[in-house]
Amino acid sequence: MKLTHFNYRDGGLRIENAAAADLARRFGTPLYVYSRQSLRDAFSRVKGAFSEASTTVCYSVKSCGNLSILKLLREAGAGFDIVSGGELYRVIKAGGDPRKIVFAGVAKSDDEIAKALEHDILMLNVESEAELDNIQAVAASMGRVAPVALRLNPDVDGKTHAKTTTGKKENKFGIDLANASRLVRNIAEQPNIRLLGVDAHIGSPINDVVPYRQAMERIAAFIRDHRSPRAVLEYLNIGGGYGSLYRNERVPDFADYAAVIVPHVKATGCKLIVEPGRSIAANSAALLTRVLYVKDNGFKHFTIVDAGMNDLIRPAMYDSYHFCWPAEYDGIPPSPLFDSPGATGYFQREEEEAGIVGNQALRNIDAEGLILTDVVGPICESSDYFAKGRRIPVPERGNLMAVFSAGAYGFSMSSNYNARPRPAEVLVEGDDARVIRERERYEDLVAGESGS
Ligand code: LLP
Repeated sequence: MKLTHFNYRDGGLRIENAAAADLARRFGTPLYVYSRQSLRDAFSRVKGAFSEASTTVCYSVKSCGNLSILKLLREAGAGFDIVSGGELYRVIKAGGDPRKIVFAGVAKSDDEIAKALEHDILMLNVESEAELDNIQAVAASMGRVAPVALRLNPDVDGKTHAKTTTGKKENKFGIDLANASRLVRNIAEQPNIRLLGVDAHIGSPINDVVPYRQAMERIAAFIRDHRSPRAVLEYLNIGGGYGSLYRNERVPDFADYAAVIVPHVKATGCKLIVEPGRSIAANSAALLTRVLYVKDNGFKHFTIVDAGMNDLIRPAMYDSYHFCWPAEYDGIPPSPLFDSPGATGYFQREEEEAGIVGNQALRNIDAEGLILTDVVGPICESSDYFAKGRRIPVPERGNLMAVFSAGAYGFSMSSNYNARPRPAEVLVEGDDARVIRERERYEDLVAGESGS
């Protein structure tokens, strides 16, 4: 799926109608820039795709939890998938409907469980027997009945990055089917628990519908085998993990995922919950960063920018690919993100050249004016990079670069490492751009420290 509201025209990148170069001048760099319309479009696409079932779309707050973004998705009808008391706080602050909140995570504290019950959220997704016992105890102490779903571990290989696969038996997530079966049968022993359903989340991103089909077969069978008056199992939550285009990979549409999920949901008569994060947020933002220095050590060429792994950690952490291109550029960048005819050749060559360093012939500027470079940041670690061995138009100090597909797990995973204030976040709507999170200041870095 190409970028819908990020286009190159009139000599550069525009996010909706705002020129990236203007935004960088106005708000400084590094800068996260979100397109309101992209977020809304992605949300309505996912909602539409699953509309054949009775579906609640619970946006996964961890992917990008800025209050303004939660608010605009709430206005579009979103519920929320949360994993901490902090995310609950964010959603409530953004006006989210507690009856559309589902709370996952393997390590909910007593305080988090109590807060969730106080807010009367839709349900807690339970990840172990010990947690179920504890939710029972906390609910009993409050004189409440806790609505829960059991998070099943269906032992399905999502075939994604080892660090983000969650549905295999060696992963810490969920409850294996045999134990889940025992817990459901013994649910009467937990008088302060109301078992509303089951859920699963098999990993992220999963650019294939087959693992969903396998998971759904197992979950639907589980529901059929375990329904009882004490275990109504009216909700089936299949989690998130839907892909988003970063490079040139094949990413199923929401409709493709829905085609393998919805029939099973209908057969069980359940209500469906989906928890998309990346597929809504990733391609709704770019990270703008300024080239500070260009360095060529005779062996390798480096483009040194003012954003670092503290601002966007995904390449360092998962070797993930983010397309990088100058924001001021006359033409269409060679990427399927822009539906460019040049994309196939560009990526083919990138694969051929992968891992090549220090080869003078390859390091030469090519006929199109592209140079093989590493785009790196200011952090004192070699893992601080956005692109390795990439061809980009010959960079110069002061150029503005865009790191694309940065909306999901970008700002939300950012840190103050190397005592770097985190970037500002800007939301664009048409011509209008407004700051939805201010750039941090040095004072923010030491807020809360006693200094004594
Ligand atoms: N539901 C649950 C229970 C999850 O654990 C996650 C993500 C989601 C939904 C949303 O998944 P999505 O639709 O965004 O794929 N930091 C990694 C991704 C970690 C995903 C964690 N769980 C990255 O940058 O790729």
